[in-house]
Amino acid sequence: MHTIGLLGGTGDLGTALAVHLAKKYDSVLIGSRSREKAQATVNQILEEKGYREYLKTHLKSGSNNDVVKNCDIIIVTVPHESAVETVKQLAQEFRGEQILISSVAALSKIGDQFFPVRTQNSISKQIQELVPSSVNVATAFQTIPATMLYREKEISADVPVACNSLDVYRCVSEIVSSINGLRPLYVGTLELSSELEGLTALLLNIAVRNHLKSPTLKLHSF
Ligand SMILES: NC(=O)c1ccc[n+]([C@@H]2O[C@H](COP(=O)([O-])OP(=O)(O)OC[C@H]3O[C@@H](n4cnc5c(N)ncnc54)[C@H](OP(=O)(O)O)[C@@H]3O)[C@@H](O)[C@H]2O)c1
Repeated sequence: MHTIGLLGGTGDLGTALAVHLAKKYDSVLIGSRSREKAQATVNQILEEKGYREYLKTHLKSGSNNDVVKNCDIIIVTVPHESAVETVKQLAQEFRGEQILISSVAALSKIGDQFFPVRTQNSISKQIQELVPSSVNVATAFQTIPATMLYREKEISADVPVACNSLDVYRCVSEIVSSINGLRPLYVGTLELSSELEGLTALLLNIAVRNHLKSPTLKLHSF
């Protein structure tokens, strides 16, 4: 059974993922730069979700440091501007054989349009270079709208996953599939992660222009 932790888990995507993952996993640690903020977030989730028993027992709070030290699956849910620096500051704390999933979407808004933020290396690749080689980085969740997930509305969405091996993909796909309605799809290696990090900008532009709420990705095969 995995222990799952969220870096910056106090935000919109972190809390949404935590609520779902706690249904299937015994230990979901919401991390923050501040332990007090993490505990306040857990309290808020419990209040908003009606003190469900599994949330009370499975949701835990801690620092981002605690997440890296104690979890075997770590999900990065901080804004793109701070993602690389956040992992850099924690780089000494990794203990190997962990999987780090970056949910980071790199986008900026100019006027009323969203644009992918292109850097020479994707955020995921930059992160992979910072952590020990025994830690495997994957890219996933960029196209899942946090608000809809948090509200636990019925969802049917695909989650493209980029990572460097099929073993890592199997592990990430187990995490993705544990959330009802999400289907993992293997994209290829981390070389392709910048494509995933840019997808959110595309979805948001389509949503704004076509009055779509909570846009997500669902592929059909004919
Ligand atoms: N929101 C969505 O619908 C959605 C969907 C797909 C992907 N994503 C991606 O998921 C990530 C999280 O999105 P979000 O909307 O949940 O973000 P958010 O709510 O704006 O922020 C998440 C958390 O990041 C931490 N944080 C903020 N500034 C930081 C800094 N300068 N240094 C270190 N930590 C900082 C904060 O945690 P503490 O203050 O507790 O440390 C904050 O609660 C983003 O990269 C986003 O692109 C979001």
